[in-house]
Amino acid sequence: MQIVLVGFMGSGKTTIGSLLSKELNQLFIDTDETITNRINMSVNEYFTLYGEPKFRQLETTVLAELTENKGVLSTGGGIVTNEANRSILKQLPHVVYLKTAPDEFIRRLEADKTNVRPLFLSRKTDEMIALFQERESFYHEVASHIVETTNKTPEAIVLEIMKEV
Ligand code: S3P
Repeated sequence: MQIVLVGFMGSGKTTIGSLLSKELNQLFIDTDETITNRINMSVNEYFTLYGEPKFRQLETTVLAELTENKGVLSTGGGIVTNEANRSILKQLPHVVYLKTAPDEFIRRLEADKTNVRPLFLSRKTDEMIALFQERESFYHEVASHIVETTNKTPEAIVLEIMKEV
């Protein structure tokens, strides 16, 4: 089985993906983690050195490779901004959009001191919400399932996904 998680930064893709993969006894893969292992630096450092367009190219290569395999795949929040990525995602049977209210993702992003997101660093709260709104229709476009995550525990979200797919 293959399940791909999409959603904005701070929607819980990595936490949920890891938990879901254990429940399903499947491999867990994360596009950001695969990229950082390849480039040998953090996403933030890569953005600073080479810029966002180069990062998006890497994301497309990695997405095409990883979606060849089974397992639970969590993706970077901006993966849907690229047309080629959307067309890969639209061909897959289980793409779950983790839908999170802005208040909640902002709170989570502020609390997360370990994963520095370059696009969060450079934006004020209302600009982050605007970025989310720009992308929202793309998440809907690629998703075969939508799971609301606001005010739910990771365990409850995982159960919902398992019922959906
Ligand atoms: C990004 C989201 C990040 C990471 C990069 C860009 C985005 O992943 O890929 O910082 O454009 O939304 P997460 O969604 O896991 O934070």
